[in-house]
Amino acid sequence: MLSLPLFESLPDAMIAVDDGGRIVRVNHQAEQLFGYDREDLLGQRIELLVPAHLRTRHVEHRATYAKDPQTRPMGIGLELVGVRKDGSEVPVEISLSPIETAEGKLVVSAIRDITERKGFERTLQAKNAELEAASAAKDQFLAAMSHELRTPLNAIIGFTGTLLMRLPGPLTDQQEQQLRIIQSSGRHLLSLITDILDLAKIEAGKIELHFEPVDVHEIVGEVHESLRSMAADKNLDFTVSLPERPTVVTSDRRALAQILINLTNNALKYTEEGSVQIAVSSDVTADAHECRISVADTGIGIKPEDRHRLFQAFEQLEPLSTRRVEGVGLGLHLSQKLARLLDGELTFTSEPGVGSTFTLALPMRSRRSS
Ligand SMILES: Nc1ncnc2c1ncn2[C@@H]1O[C@H](COP(=O)(O)OP(=O)(O)O)[C@@H](O)[C@H]1O
Ligand SMILES: [Mg+2]
Repeated sequence: MLSLPLFESLPDAMIAVDDGGRIVRVNHQAEQLFGYDREDLLGQRIELLVPAHLRTRHVEHRATYAKDPQTRPMGIGLELVGVRKDGSEVPVEISLSPIETAEGKLVVSAIRDITERKGFERTLQAKNAELEAASAAKDQFLAAMSHELRTPLNAIIGFTGTLLMRLPGPLTDQQEQQLRIIQSSGRHLLSLITDILDLAKIEAGKIELHFEPVDVHEIVGEVHESLRSMAADKNLDFTVSLPERPTVVTSDRRALAQILINLTNNALKYTEEGSVQIAVSSDVTADAHECRISVADTGIGIKPEDRHRLFQAFEQLEPLSTRRVEGVGLGLHLSQKLARLLDGELTFTSEPGVGSTFTLALPMRSRRSS
């Protein structure tokens, strides 16, 4: 039998029960846990400490255990409860050990009060539910915002366009000038909102990509077309170089176009004279099925010490005070994230004062498409 001092020094409530289920030994912690004095417990059936509706079952369990007594936690996976002298119930965890003693076979139960742990578990569950609700609210907010912010802006940009086309009637020079400012500010705001919402979506893992066969030449053609006027405004030689055979990749059309627009837009923004060229090449060998789209410019270039800042969110190399071009420094950050989602890679080479080349390498066939 466990010596009394040891029995007393254990942190858990300990109760030893004989063959007939009668309590033969308890420690101080057991008295405290159940609210009885030692004398009230000794000689009583252990079922005294089991809630009434579980007593019959407890007697059966005890009989089963007596047939094959081994040290084990009791009722694994069950929520066990004990009942105190005052009738209140207490959640407990119980482990049983059989021992042979001079008094015969005893079963010793170590009983741990898990009220506190249950409390933690409940708080945790509540917190989890709260977090889920917050995350759902954020998703809803994003979806609503992307609609709510874009719709009025599209109206502003659209009607500015019809005014500039003089559809409703003639314009004075001053009106035209001011409408152009509204138009370019509107476009700028729209691209900013799009970038921020895209970034939020990527961060939340909510961006939806549709992998399908995409004709790279067609997308490059669209990017070239949409930025042509920007190149013309700056008198830049803006060209496209395509291989003879078509280049088809399995990818997400919108993400791919967005990366190329960002890269080309940067190339045009940061180049004052010379050229910008978008070039497509593909490398189809036994172990490589890769397509490379590069955007090369003859612009200001990037200093070696600035290389690591380039892809960080909201990083712009030129200090605000000397900036001549607009932007918020999200383009490359987003493009790199999108490139990774497309299983691709975005790299660059650059020489200050000579120019930069940004290259997007894409697998011809993405893992995600199969
Ligand atoms: N083609 C380029 N030539 C020189 N600098 C570049 C080029 N592309 C990007 N950069 C630098 O990298 C910074 C980050 O680019 P980006 O994330 O697209 O932001 P943004 O275009 O809004 O400034 C730019 O502010 C610029 O300093
Ligand atoms: Mg940019």
